[in-house]
Amino acid sequence: MPNPFKPSFGVSPPLLVGRDDLLDEFAEALEDGPGSAARATIYTGARGSGKTVMLNAVEDRAREQGWVVISETASPGFVDRIVRQHLPGLLRDFDPGAVRRRLTGITGPLGAGGATWSAVEAHLADAGLRNQAALLTDLLAENGAGLLITLDEIHRNQIGELRELATTVQHAFREERELAFVGAGLALAVSDVVNDEVLTFLRRAERHHLGSVGREDVARAIREPVEANGRQLADDVLAEMVEGTRGYPFLIQLVGARVWRRHPSAPEVSMDDARLGVTDALRRLGSLVHEPALADASDIDKSFLLAMARDDGPSKMADIQRRLDVDVNYASQYRLRLIAAELIEPVRRGYVDFALPYLREYLRSHAAAEM
Ligand SMILES: Nc1ncnc2c1ncn2[C@@H]1O[C@H](COP(=O)(O)OP(=O)(O)O)[C@@H](O)[C@H]1O
Ligand SMILES: [Mg+2]
Repeated sequence: MPNPFKPSFGVSPPLLVGRDDLLDEFAEALEDGPGSAARATIYTGARGSGKTVMLNAVEDRAREQGWVVISETASPGFVDRIVRQHLPGLLRDFDPGAVRRRLTGITGPLGAGGATWSAVEAHLADAGLRNQAALLTDLLAENGAGLLITLDEIHRNQIGELRELATTVQHAFREERELAFVGAGLALAVSDVVNDEVLTFLRRAERHHLGSVGREDVARAIREPVEANGRQLADDVLAEMVEGTRGYPFLIQLVGARVWRRHPSAPEVSMDDARLGVTDALRRLGSLVHEPALADASDIDKSFLLAMARDDGPSKMADIQRRLDVDVNYASQYRLRLIAAELIEPVRRGYVDFALPYLREYLRSHAAAEM
């Protein structure tokens, strides 16, 4: 039996749980028309919280409503890819004659009557992002549809290109075009970008933090794919797996996959499979999640985290401050940095806890070594 679970970043799960409200909110914004708030949305969340697969899901929702989608990642050259590949490609799907006529209206004559598509394409690239987006949304609007642009891994490094895209999106909003924008990134990266003066529309965008998923939803995300693939799962076995995930989306898939593969052709998942599968999944979590999440942390960030790891539950700020032998301001500055980096989160007044599951255990077992 093929393994139904998908423990890979960016790969949509067999069942996406706990996000229906957000998806409905987005779909409604497309129906509601220009000016609807959720037509500019940003999802934030730690590594493995499901940002990329949320983008996949909103793209699917948009397509269901007949919209066309440009899906990009904020790596160098993304605006160029939109201008030279995505937009001309989408425009090509329309009546080329209509595109040619309108383009001539925007940018001036385009050679003699029978310009080839490659001439049109070159002209389109020169017309730029804003003109192409205007042209496409005009054509789409005639069919009651629009354009969704998604941008994954928003980061300050691409601030110049982000400004270019943001300016176009902002204009399109002002002109009440059928256009929507959904971005995703770590909260720290997003707040860096959102505070840029030029990117005002991003500041006004709806921001949603993708956190952990409730037990009921986790149970469904595991049970349904298992049963749909012909195997049974007793309640206590399922509970063991649910417990192991701690509601962390990536672990839903990793636990599911590692448990499944123990005996893929057995009619029932055993308690033994569940326990050993969870252990196996947790062993892999360090290199898949904790190590990369800590890659940008400074030495001081790490000492702060290690000071927290001495507690079995949430840490009191006063204790951390004492353990590090620093003053209140210093400690609270690092607290803010680590919250923004989605490594820790405030739990109640004066307390913080780890934001990634099993990070405490990881830090404890690596404290002496290379950290
Ligand atoms: N709501 C969810 N329900 C079930 N699995 C999920 C959910 N969200 C994410 N996943 C799974 O978690 C993993 C990480 O998702 P991804 O979108 O790549 O995270 P991010 O982009 O935030 O790092 C993927 O294997 C994905 O299938
Ligand atoms: Mg991602």
